[in-house]
Amino acid sequence: MMIEPTGQILGATVTGIDLSQSLSQTDFGTILQTLGQYGVLRFPRQMIGAGELKVFSERFGPIQGSVTGKFHDPEVPEVGILSNIRENGQPIGLADAGQDWHTDMSYNQTIGFVNVLHAVKVPRRNGKALGSTVFANMHAAYEELDPALKSRLEGMTATHDFNKFWEEMLRRPGSTRVPLTPEQRAKRPPSIHPVFLTHPITGRRVLYVNPGYAMRINELDAAESDRVLKLLFEHQLQPRYQYAHEWAENDLLIWDHIGTLHNAIPDYTAEEHRLMRRCQVMADWIFDPEFLRRSLPQRAAA
Ligand code: SIN
Repeated sequence: MMIEPTGQILGATVTGIDLSQSLSQTDFGTILQTLGQYGVLRFPRQMIGAGELKVFSERFGPIQGSVTGKFHDPEVPEVGILSNIRENGQPIGLADAGQDWHTDMSYNQTIGFVNVLHAVKVPRRNGKALGSTVFANMHAAYEELDPALKSRLEGMTATHDFNKFWEEMLRRPGSTRVPLTPEQRAKRPPSIHPVFLTHPITGRRVLYVNPGYAMRINELDAAESDRVLKLLFEHQLQPRYQYAHEWAENDLLIWDHIGTLHNAIPDYTAEEHRLMRRCQVMADWIFDPEFLRRSLPQRAAA
């Protein structure tokens, strides 16, 4: 495996490995360590089927299924379809997934760890790829946070709610989303997490709030919580923390949700087709010391 960092605030390209094949424990450990270090990993030219994508994704942890039960691979329901393509007048995928700043699954009791996206179709105009995904580095955002605010917020928690992002997308002109049913809302109840987490791979602190799902800092009154959250959102989205991934077909991208935020840029039209396959992996295992010891023996020995 060859690892080439982008030289930017996040990101590395990994070549010399075929992710459709079963990974050795050593290769998996290298990928995990590299993911912690660079946050976003691009594996170019990966020819991988839906079943193989699921097998690769499940090395990181259990996969979260879709809340609506729609837009997944017909044979492999763990593999979601993100697309603006319509066939016979019907959308074949979720057309507006992730189109604002957020961290997947911060709304769950067990938070998200990794997203795995495989680019099947990338929109292009005049030869330029559209529909980039932009990431922000939350290790850096934590490190550069005002020390007084850092010590004030230490030990505080935030409530995250899946419905916040859903409703925001629904209000956008042309949205095809419908309000979540009470049953769907019950499947995604709000959850509470510390404002700062210790990253399980790097052992460093990260800022763990995001504009998509964080609703409230629980230890502050409502007005102060709104003020502080606004400040944190502005801080964490400063351009100097951001890295944009420009897609190519058959890129397989994995990113670490604990240490990054992301935003899918909708700068393409309905006629410019984008099609991604996605697995959303939860953080059940990455916080488990035994999983870490097995996967990163060099880290355990250090
Ligand atoms: C997501 O938020 O998981 C989707 C990102 C993308 O489609 O670029």
